Amino acid sequence: MRRKIAAGNWKMNGTGAALSELDALAQALPPNPPSVVICPPAPLLYRACEVVAGKGIDIGAQDCHMQSSGAHTGDISAAMIADTGAIYTIVGHSERRAAHEETNAMVRDKAKAAWAAGLTPILCIGEALEDREADNTLNIIGGQLAGSLPSDVSAENTVIAYEPIWAIGTGKVPTLAQIIEVHDFIRERLIARFGQDIGNAIPLLYGGSVKPDNAATIFKAENVDGALVGGASLKAGDFAPIIAALAAC
Ligand code: PGA
Repeated sequence: MRRKIAAGNWKMNGTGAALSELDALAQALPPNPPSVVICPPAPLLYRACEVVAGKGIDIGAQDCHMQSSGAHTGDISAAMIADTGAIYTIVGHSERRAAHEETNAMVRDKAKAAWAAGLTPILCIGEALEDREADNTLNIIGGQLAGSLPSDVSAENTVIAYEPIWAIGTGKVPTLAQIIEVHDFIRERLIARFGQDIGNAIPLLYGGSVKPDNAATIFKAENVDGALVGGASLKAGDFAPIIAALAAC
């Protein structure tokens, strides 16, 4: 049995007032919930950790720097994130790969930096629309896995999120068959590289326009162990039914 995880990525949304959504979410969790992670903007990390303490919700950051300290104005190290009480960090989100020109090698180093600080990276991969249309999806995904995943991956220290870029924030969702194809492919690659035990146990999340009305269908895929949710994680009323759908499958 793999760990199920519902992770919410608030992106650059929310100030202190949004923390009330965490309280509301904690109250709306189903019985036997999966792991629930919220990744708020960095200035909210510390307060978010205080709000959710003991309530069944973990906190993560949205990025970390690959180095532990130094002259990197505006950046945040993994140790600083851990110091807030957060236990996860997203690395390699497509918005950072695009807007901050993050390469696979940088994402790999960020995952290692996260480990060094005791954080679990939620490492994102995903193809662009032109890759999908050129039937190049699996090549891209294979390359991102090979280039972004460090060799010391274990089932406990890493979560992988498959997020087709064309599905993020667009309301367009791949068919269940397309999701199954990519998740099965990722699983095969993980087993080939890390062996059966580790490869079979690493949680794989799907991300991209997951909503209350499509979550149950997406969670039917055998190799989908949860979701990384953007827009629908901002309001407890939207995220709670997604968490309930995951708990029910
Ligand atoms: P979305 O974002 O759910 O708003 O499509 C997903 C993500 O970028 O993680």
